[in-house]
Amino acid sequence: MQEIKFFSGENIPLELHKVRVVQKLNLVPIERRLEALKEGGFNTFGLQTTDIFLDMITDSGTNAMSDNQLAAMMRADDAYAGSQSFVRMQKAVEDVLGKKYLLPAHQGRAAENIISCAYIKKGNLVPMNYHFTTTLAHITQYGGRIVELLYDEAYKTTSSHPFKGNMNLEKLEEVIKMEGASNIPFIRMEASTNLIGGQPFSIQNLREVRAIADKHGICLVLDASLLGENAYLVKQREAEFANTSMAEIIHTMTSLCDLVYFSARKLSSSRGGGICTNDEKIYKELAPLIPLFEGFLTYGGMSVREIEAIAVGLYETWDDSMICQSPRFIEYLVNSAVEKGVPMVTPPGVLGAHVNTRKICKHIPRTQYIAGSFAAAFYLISGVRGMERGSLSNQRDEYGNETYADMELLRLAVPRRVFTLSQIKYVVDRLDWLTRNAKLVGGLKFVYEPPVLRFFMGRLEPIGDWTEKLIAKFKEDFGDSL
Ligand SMILES: Cc1ncc(COP(=O)(O)O)c(C=O)c1O
Repeated sequence: MQEIKFFSGENIPLELHKVRVVQKLNLVPIERRLEALKEGGFNTFGLQTTDIFLDMITDSGTNAMSDNQLAAMMRADDAYAGSQSFVRMQKAVEDVLGKKYLLPAHQGRAAENIISCAYIKKGNLVPMNYHFTTTLAHITQYGGRIVELLYDEAYKTTSSHPFKGNMNLEKLEEVIKMEGASNIPFIRMEASTNLIGGQPFSIQNLREVRAIADKHGICLVLDASLLGENAYLVKQREAEFANTSMAEIIHTMTSLCDLVYFSARKLSSSRGGGICTNDEKIYKELAPLIPLFEGFLTYGGMSVREIEAIAVGLYETWDDSMICQSPRFIEYLVNSAVEKGVPMVTPPGVLGAHVNTRKICKHIPRTQYIAGSFAAAFYLISGVRGMERGSLSNQRDEYGNETYADMELLRLAVPRRVFTLSQIKYVVDRLDWLTRNAKLVGGLKFVYEPPVLRFFMGRLEPIGDWTEKLIAKFKEDFGDSL
């Protein structure tokens, strides 16, 4: 995409869209925010949007839709079977992702359930660049195990490595040798590796993974939920593709994989999901599971309106002025926060900015959920809802022991074309303040811990009276300001 320079020399991520529908936001007083935290079990998933100023919990299903998507939704073809909306989605999948067989699923994790149900046998191992919470939960649910194979650089929170999501090829070979290819149903690559800070892999790395998969006759699966952003960063950071169109980059990536699945909540700024392949055998193995878990093969649990929005949204991933908006805002947020001394994950990735809370809250023991505590504190002092991406998001091992995350991150998602630059500046300002006052933040403990995906519904409470102390300091510094 052509860089638009400012006469002042400032590097500003200029919006290449206009806003025609708006939603009023509330910034409720800090005392109400504390009440809201108590009602929500000090888990940002427990908050109501009426208490939230900027909702940065996720980009999943919250990206702004385009006028063309909304228009397409009006022509949806309501039919249980044979809907023309599905035909249009199929065509978009074939054009954009290069796969002729499409299986619809109601969202990304539903696709993971279908794939795991079909291919995971007890004791199987799935090598991947890194897990996503729902992926791990589904694979283990069917008795499988995973192994994460990143290079050491990926675990460094501050780095200038352009492709921290790259699969460690030497380790992949080692794992296949030790485990045996027959115990590995597939290798999984996740585009824009979510849990390590939205970090991409390079096409060169994907080619090499493909070669290893071919050598051992193992299927290669791509989680394409954040494929558009990965493709955008390939264009920015991988010299071979600097002048290649987004369409071609996306095609190159998907053509290297046997099976591609996605959360349409992310990939196409809509809600839904799908699995696609060019392999008839894979299609036939998975197809019977769709009516069982999702719905008939031409809707898969989705509304036909959303199917229309997915079709248009898929074509819009070709438009780098659309895809670049979120990564460029994230870059601005990360760079501005780093300038103020807030430790952030670098280089800036996609889907959100990631705060390295372990570095800020060294005084909180990891048993007290460092990132979860910081997420609660950040909501309290700003009204901004982020998401804990640390040990609280991890699941316990088979013996019930805590497993501690490699990183303790607060993720502040930046959905596409939703926020304005002054809102991003507000986030940086409050992050700066909380970092300077981080000593006042204390830990959390579970009062209700669900057995699976505990971070969604778990309820916690603060250890000690740190919330009151934080409010007192906020009042001292900000007076009557919200
Ligand atoms: C990489 C990745 N895979 C899978 C999923 C699951 O998708 P969904 O939320 O649509 O179930 C997500 C969701 O955030 C994701 O980021």
